[in-house]
Amino acid sequence: MDIEVVRKAPLFSGLGDEATGALLELMTTSTLDRGSVLFDEGDPGSELYVIVTGKLKLGRTASDGRENLLSILGPGEMFGELSLFDPGPRTATVTAVSDCTLLGLANNHLMTWLDGRPEAARNLLQALAARLRRTNDTVGDLVFSDVPGRVAKALLDLADRFGRPAADGVLVAHELTQEELAQLVGASRETVNKALADFAARGWIRLEARAVVLLDVERMTSRAR
Ligand code: CMP
Repeated sequence: MDIEVVRKAPLFSGLGDEATGALLELMTTSTLDRGSVLFDEGDPGSELYVIVTGKLKLGRTASDGRENLLSILGPGEMFGELSLFDPGPRTATVTAVSDCTLLGLANNHLMTWLDGRPEAARNLLQALAARLRRTNDTVGDLVFSDVPGRVAKALLDLADRFGRPAADGVLVAHELTQEELAQLVGASRETVNKALADFAARGWIRLEARAVVLLDVERMTSRAR
């Protein structure tokens, strides 16, 4: 296991070896194949997870069957804590978009471990605050930005978290279909495809299967504003 990736998780941030070791002892490793569902929105929740490898999507389904993606998460990120700290059903369905390795931590183990470790509790509060900040941005964009602006912003955000330098730009292997990208920006597939085709025609991006290369980050950043 790549321990450095795990140490990046908010749960571990700034902790000494003793606290980190004690937490790792309580965690169990599991794997999830691409396309598999870890849990569904509405399920009871008793564990939180840290992603070691791979990517997952967090989705919600409206009563008419339409789907919306809250986020795509990758290595070092944590999820599944909401139904622990605010006891209630899972708030999203979690599905692997690539093969994944996860570390799971049971609710009772987390609570015992947190007792007497205020620095770890502060890490968790910080992670929740960062998520709320991000969600506020997303809500603002849904109201104030047009679809191409939201697509540009989503690609830049994915590039920030998952991008790797390529010969002619930044390669973002997001693993998403165009339908899933549309669900992430909250627009129809047709409108999102049109925005992507327009960016590609301008030479700002290059489209690949489940990936995109950002060729002109500056122009994409201006479009995202
Ligand atoms: P839980 O409700 O237990 O299960 C689904 C998880 O998705 C949830 O905990 C959070 O960890 C995560 N989640 C829910 N909403 C968001 C959001 N807006 N942004 C990022 N992650 C979220």
